Amino acid sequence: MHTEVIVVAAGSGSRMGSDIKKQYLPLAGAPILIRTLQALAECSSVDRMVLVVSEDDREYVHTLCQEHQMMKIGAIVAGGRERQDSVRRGLAALDEKTELVAVHDAARPLVTMEEVEAVLAAARTKGAATLGVPVKDTIKRVAEGLVQETLPRSELFAVHTPQAFHRRVLEDAHQRSLEVGGLGTDDASLVEWAGVPVTMVEGRYTNLKITTPDDLVIAEALWKLKGE
Ligand code: CTP
Ligand code: MG
Repeated sequence: MHTEVIVVAAGSGSRMGSDIKKQYLPLAGAPILIRTLQALAECSSVDRMVLVVSEDDREYVHTLCQEHQMMKIGAIVAGGRERQDSVRRGLAALDEKTELVAVHDAARPLVTMEEVEAVLAAARTKGAATLGVPVKDTIKRVAEGLVQETLPRSELFAVHTPQAFHRRVLEDAHQRSLEVGGLGTDDASLVEWAGVPVTMVEGRYTNLKITTPDDLVIAEALWKLKGE
């Protein structure tokens, strides 16, 4: 199956609070976005990547990709207001022969080849799959400072990316959900809502999403560990 990854990198990184958007901050000497693209490009199942960035950053990212001799970049397109808008722009730029699509956060540079291949393999056979890890903390639902409920930890997973789907499954879910709000921040939520079962593929805790400054410190440490 011809396979593409949509890499979403059009966010503003507000929780990082840095002058430079978080996807362009360095991790082990190269921009986080480049580290993410390198990890994906080394996967033999990945044929092509569509990169979704802010309109204003397209030129910069194009240059960055050239500088780092990035392979498999098929298109660099402008993103939208919400993450889902960015994914939708990415879907519009897929190659017509693509049958399997993964969506990955640019802010997850520590994803491994094994994780990417595992989620692609599951989606290939089952139609829809996401990476995730069992939660370590006990999770409680809270409203107005009061605990409402303690959720059964043994059933809970924290969801990562990549998430992968048969192209039609993801396109249909995005199309059908256009008018509906509050369906969650990831693509699997839309696909679940559309009634398609999503397979959970257990990944690694190291596939963290760089969100706040302390995540950068952890990511640097994990990167060093990877090289040992
Ligand atoms: N993203 C995107 N388009 C948006 C919003 C987010 O492509 N309109 C991307 C981000 O660039 C990131 C991924 O989706 O790679 C996950 O989002 P998140 O970690 O929330 O990043 P930001 O939205 O940039 O950060 P914040 O929520 O702190 O502003
Ligand atoms: Mg965000």
